[in-house]
Amino acid sequence: MGTVVLGTGSCLPERILTNVELESIVDTSDEWIQSRTGIAARRIGGKGEKTYQLAAKAAERALEAAGVMADEIDLVIVATLTSHMLMPSTACFVQDEIGAKNAFAYDLNAACSGFLFGFDAADKYIQADHSKKILVIGVETLSSRLNWKDRNTCILFGDGAGAVVVGYSESERGLLKSDFGSDGSLWELLCMYGPQSLNPDLEIENHPGSHVLMGGREVFKHAVRAMEDAVHGVLDKEGIGLDSVDLVIPHQANIRILNKLVERLSIPQEKLFINVSKYGNTSAASIPIALDEANNKGLISVGDTVLFCAFGGGFTWGAVLIKW
Ligand code: UT7
Repeated sequence: MGTVVLGTGSCLPERILTNVELESIVDTSDEWIQSRTGIAARRIGGKGEKTYQLAAKAAERALEAAGVMADEIDLVIVATLTSHMLMPSTACFVQDEIGAKNAFAYDLNAACSGFLFGFDAADKYIQADHSKKILVIGVETLSSRLNWKDRNTCILFGDGAGAVVVGYSESERGLLKSDFGSDGSLWELLCMYGPQSLNPDLEIENHPGSHVLMGGREVFKHAVRAMEDAVHGVLDKEGIGLDSVDLVIPHQANIRILNKLVERLSIPQEKLFINVSKYGNTSAASIPIALDEANNKGLISVGDTVLFCAFGGGFTWGAVLIKW
């Protein structure tokens, strides 16, 4: 008995930016990017593909798959760090765009872990009121927040949106356990400053501009360790081992991070869903995009145990276990 996914959807921008094209933008090579990250291409938002528009399209597809009308939705949660505007929230734009007129709406920022944090929050609302139906969306337009002269970061990220409609089921299915953590003391290793302050007293010293900044090597180490701990945490809470898990859908950051995770946890390669080569790291959108793709490919059956794990700026991390 619990919170189940009623439908999934996603929306990727049309424009594909390949590694070969990146070679003419920064000093890099397809070979370097593929071998260090596993990324071959990423999507870049264009006209009609603003953050809220990608999110709304993904939401409409999830609603259609769920057979739920927009006005049946009680809450819209949008996980993003590239909100359309600072105010109102992207969730409010989505609520209007899709006609979810009975829903309240808000954004949540937990960087790349945001979708899982939102999924868990939705579960708490649904546990409190079984009649609720909630849209949880992960969306990013990180192409708008990258320093296209910094080869350390601009090759990694991409744009896109993924969404789920969740509701209550009396069956044995649902969200089983979650396990989350944060460590704000390490914020500087993966961060993005906001706009310059108009109040000089509140300005951040040495504001370096509003784009992604990252200490790649350190992030790498923390990401592997934190996701490993979160996976152990969630499995221990449920009292099961990885052999009981049918599919692992991790945050799609980098193939080397995922390979390390697989090695440390001894996950059979065939249980891992990976699509990072096509879309790069889409931050909060990566798990719901991967989930939609895995679902559409028929890789998840009713009753399967599915494990999600994520890591992102903050630092933030977590794992969620569901019975599909
Ligand atoms: O959601 C979490 C988000 N963050 C991540 O997933 C990032 C985690 N970190 C990583 O995946 C890796 O640290 C990177 C892929 C970012 C970098 O790989 P690395 O093996 O840690 O390389 P590095 O930073 O130690 O750099 C090695 C060399 C350097 O050159 P020198 O100093 O040895 O001459 C870099 O300047 O590679 C150079 N380099 C590049 N060369 C070609 C850095 N970026 C590039 C590039 N193309 N795009």
